Amino acid sequence: MDAKLEKYFKYVDENTKYFIDQLREVVAIPSVSADHTKRHHVVEMGKWLEKRLLDLGCQVKMIDLGMQTLQGVEVPLPPVVLASYGDDKDKKTITIYGHYDVQPALLSDGWNTEPFTLVEEEDGRLVGRGATDDKGPVLGWLLCLEAHQKLDIEIPVNLKFCFEGMEESGSIGLDEVIIDQADKWFKGTDYTCISDNYWLGTTKPALTYGLRGNNYFHLEVSGPQADLHSGVFGGVVQEPMTILTNLLSNLVDINGKIKIPHIYDQVAELTEEEDKTYSSLSFQNSDLINDLKADIVIHSENADSLKSRWRYPSLSIHGVEGAFYDPGSKTVIPSKVTGKFSIRSVPFMDPATISKLVIDHINSEFAKLDSKCKMRVWEESSGRWWYSSPNHPNFVAGSRAIKRVFNVEPEMTREGGSIPVTLTFEEALKTNVLLLPMGAANDGAHSTNEKVDKYNYINGIKLYGAYWAEIAALAK
Ligand code: BES
Ligand code: ZN
Repeated sequence: MDAKLEKYFKYVDENTKYFIDQLREVVAIPSVSADHTKRHHVVEMGKWLEKRLLDLGCQVKMIDLGMQTLQGVEVPLPPVVLASYGDDKDKKTITIYGHYDVQPALLSDGWNTEPFTLVEEEDGRLVGRGATDDKGPVLGWLLCLEAHQKLDIEIPVNLKFCFEGMEESGSIGLDEVIIDQADKWFKGTDYTCISDNYWLGTTKPALTYGLRGNNYFHLEVSGPQADLHSGVFGGVVQEPMTILTNLLSNLVDINGKIKIPHIYDQVAELTEEEDKTYSSLSFQNSDLINDLKADIVIHSENADSLKSRWRYPSLSIHGVEGAFYDPGSKTVIPSKVTGKFSIRSVPFMDPATISKLVIDHINSEFAKLDSKCKMRVWEESSGRWWYSSPNHPNFVAGSRAIKRVFNVEPEMTREGGSIPVTLTFEEALKTNVLLLPMGAANDGAHSTNEKVDKYNYINGIKLYGAYWAEIAALAK
């Protein structure tokens, strides 16, 4: 194994330019799933993967998920791209998941360069939408496979890929595909691996064994049929925006404490054993403050920030649809406003209970206002948290692979973000899932100037090959 891996690592180092050019090609496809005007690009990205996988000699199955109404427009759901490579009874089989859609991005959001044109900065940053979330990692798997072929190194495992184009928009239809294909396409899966998260810091590689879930709510308050002039109606009518801000302000305090009764009841107790795990991690509040370029951190203890991110729920208010937000000062009373907020959930919170507690709370707060406006609150989507054992052989292989590439032990981490299908893979395929991050903590996924560092991208591609080899070695 050593000689083969050495050869592979050398090849990856020597082909850095090609790997970056490939990333440039996929970043250039603006596969934004949340925007109906960009949906054909998501489909285009799915087809790009299909062609690339076929060229690599994979069997490919494109699953059509039908249509969806988005922003009032009927658009196709992007296909789930299933691929497989190898079917050797003597080898372990790995299922690999990733997503090929990205978050929206506009130059005017504050990007320094065109978001869909990959820019290689002198300090090694590869800047572009999707560079780290999740095009770099998805492409990395294909490049790893291709490199093995070019070097004539046998792939030491059987591979099954599952790439979706709706992760950033609720993974519509994917659970059903995984469940339906569990005994078909995914049959024989021994281990599952997902590369769609980040290191805890910027220098130490990580393996990840937990994610938070997410329950997303819409809260609509409506009054008059049309927007009104505040000079004519101010003080005369009850205003939807005033009611909405009142309700939103009763959800969470400025230090993140959720005000919904009983919401913390199902949160796992912090054991002494768990408490100890935080002290050995590299995380520093000061790094966070540096990355944020602002000291707005709630906690003074490093461990408390991590606990808040990983093992306690949080509630974030994301936006208000229908409110006036343009520059300038408009004296309008908006007629209908919809607040958007979500709760990140943790072990052992039950999604249905969260939903009920939130909706009951808002109904009761609204009743107290005794308002003449109308209010509607509903759960728009819900994704489950995931928490697994980091002692599984899948993690042992991941850990050994990290040792080979970086010559250090990984940090064992959880994440505050969500990849709801993780639990579906675990349940439907009855396999352990390893989260094997490529990017670093400061990559700015979902933010402006998203990047992946060349160091992480190139070594991430090496890591994938080492992981396959270590899985194969476990079986021996
Ligand atoms: N790659 C992220 C998941 C993630 C976020 C991992 C932060 C680690 C830290 C993924 O693409 C994502 O953004 N997921 C959404 C899911 C949501 C729509 C249910 C998220 O977490 O907001
Ligand atoms: Zn992602």
